Amino acid sequence: SWNFSNIIDEQVEKIRAQVGDKRVLCALSGGVDSSVAAALVHKAVGDQLTCVFVDHGLLRQGEAEQVLGDYAQLTGIDVRGVDVSDRFLAELKGVTDPEEKRKAIGREFIRTFEQAARDIASEGEFEYLVQGTLYPDVVESGGGTGAANIKSHHNVGGLPEDMKFELVEPLRALFKDEVRSIGIELGLPEAMVWRQPFPGPGLGIRIVGEVTRERLETLRAADAIARAELRAAGLDRSVWQFPVVLLADVRSVGVQGDGRTYGHPIVLRPVSSEDAMTADWSRLPYELLAKISTRITNEVPEVNRVTLDVTSKPPGTIEWE
Ligand code: XMP
Repeated sequence: SWNFSNIIDEQVEKIRAQVGDKRVLCALSGGVDSSVAAALVHKAVGDQLTCVFVDHGLLRQGEAEQVLGDYAQLTGIDVRGVDVSDRFLAELKGVTDPEEKRKAIGREFIRTFEQAARDIASEGEFEYLVQGTLYPDVVESGGGTGAANIKSHHNVGGLPEDMKFELVEPLRALFKDEVRSIGIELGLPEAMVWRQPFPGPGLGIRIVGEVTRERLETLRAADAIARAELRAAGLDRSVWQFPVVLLADVRSVGVQGDGRTYGHPIVLRPVSSEDAMTADWSRLPYELLAKISTRITNEVPEVNRVTLDVTSKPPGTIEWE
């Protein structure tokens, strides 16, 4: 039977044997996999590990603080936050095509990570790079090198050509639920361990239309309400993902107080799924949906309409872009 503290001890020994006294670099995304992988490596080699957290400004409310605050304090890991939201917004200016957005975000992410890696390497060379590759990623990519396509594109991305890293992948034999159990065993925050999958390009692909600072603030506020209410209803582990989408280029007429409004719709997209390849829309209780809708339209001035996406995948994808 599985014993998670045994798995941890085993991995710690393996990591020590692999990296010796060399320095190790890790890109934290705020997701479960990189957080648990880094915590394991830190347990094994302590200060030899340095993590980089790129804040591209496309994260949800509280996520940057969770990584740079709670997580860093709890684990004692040296986490270097790089706040580059201005640069990302500049790159996204005028971009509306979903694939163009992904390319711009991916390109900028790699640039930022490269620069951070170079800065940190000036304090002493790195020979190892941590990746939160899971067993299903290994299988999907044919058991070969690197993680699945989506991940290699958006989570860690390309690495500086002239920097040669050897990969440390302590989660390579594990499934997601095992990684979560290990995260709990390591004392990581529940909110982090149970975080639903969140795309690398973040809120950038949940704003249909151009991404601007104001639109991000609107979406972040609506998203925070939806997530808080789902959690309060005790249902956050019953959905696979709960994208909240801002239709930034659409306006509709509404009425509020003594006046007519002309605001934007929010789309709620809760889905159930096993592996994101196919999905069904989640049948959330009407009471919960009503509460989310009321709160969003009351608390987020730019939004005057809340809609529910009742499309399965296929034909719809989980994300709107
Ligand atoms: P779709 O929208 O294709 O999404 O049904 C399937 C899963 O992949 C996630 N997703 C992404 N993840 N970069 C990522 O890291 C991306 O560009 C990206 N696009 C979609 C999505 O959240 C879902 O879990």
